[in-house]
Amino acid sequence: MMGQAQRRSPVYLRDNAPALGTGPARLWGRLDIGPGPWQPGPMSRHIIQEASAAPDGRKTAPAALRNTGPLIEALRARLPATGRVLELASGTGQHAAAFAAAFPALEWLPSDVDPGQRSSITAWRQDCGLANLAAPLAIDIAEPWPVAPGTAQAVLAINLLHLIPEPFLTPLFGEARQALGDGGKLLIYGPFLRGSSYASEGDQSFDAALRARDPAIGYKSVEAVTGAAQAAGFTPLASDAMPANNLLLSFAAPQ
Ligand SMILES: C[S@@+](CC[C@H](N)C(=O)[O-])C[C@H]1O[C@@H](n2cnc3c(N)ncnc32)[C@H](O)[C@@H]1O
Repeated sequence: MMGQAQRRSPVYLRDNAPALGTGPARLWGRLDIGPGPWQPGPMSRHIIQEASAAPDGRKTAPAALRNTGPLIEALRARLPATGRVLELASGTGQHAAAFAAAFPALEWLPSDVDPGQRSSITAWRQDCGLANLAAPLAIDIAEPWPVAPGTAQAVLAINLLHLIPEPFLTPLFGEARQALGDGGKLLIYGPFLRGSSYASEGDQSFDAALRARDPAIGYKSVEAVTGAAQAAGFTPLASDAMPANNLLLSFAAPQ
């Protein structure tokens, strides 16, 4: 698992909300890279968002608070009516709890690479008590996933792709293809380049900040993501415009 052995304590990195009008200082999320002088490289890739924690362990991230409502509305048109949704990089778990409540006919299966994030997801799960919210899986998207082939009807990743190196798209989409049943949906939300263009100056400076921390990470273009998805066998379905210049990209596995 990339960088996990070297993680020690947080450094702060701007969160993903460049067009919401909040100042950069309030948008810096946590980059878990160690207490010493910062060094670029694999150890900087394990990124966690800014979040406050309740006494019961539930973390709350401002960015997730902002985008939960718009995401529910957009997902309503893109998720299957029934079945299992595997959520990658679930983060705090507040999305998982909100989505499980919004989509009671779906089984919501959250996951994250980070044990601290998984603890927060567990706390949200205990708090909401929803029967359709499963315990979080430990999934590093770049490693084989502990998911039986063909057992998910959708795979969802929110605000992950700009935090991983571009070569990780290949294992990510390959594993998603394995996990999904025939016709399953792959849904990717976040900030993207359109070709080589940024959607705003805020996006450009956020991407520059990411790349300054680690040259291997940063925004991916819609075209690169679509190409990697197609190479794994997916068909592009839709690109939904979302607040803060973000996109929800939808793909379908073969029937
Ligand atoms: C910016 S947060 C987004 C969390 C959540 N999806 C949201 O939007 O609130 C990025 C998340 O990606 C997770 N992450 C980073 N690298 C990962 C990897 N290689 N595999 C799985 N999760 C990863 C981090 O632990 C973190 O929870």
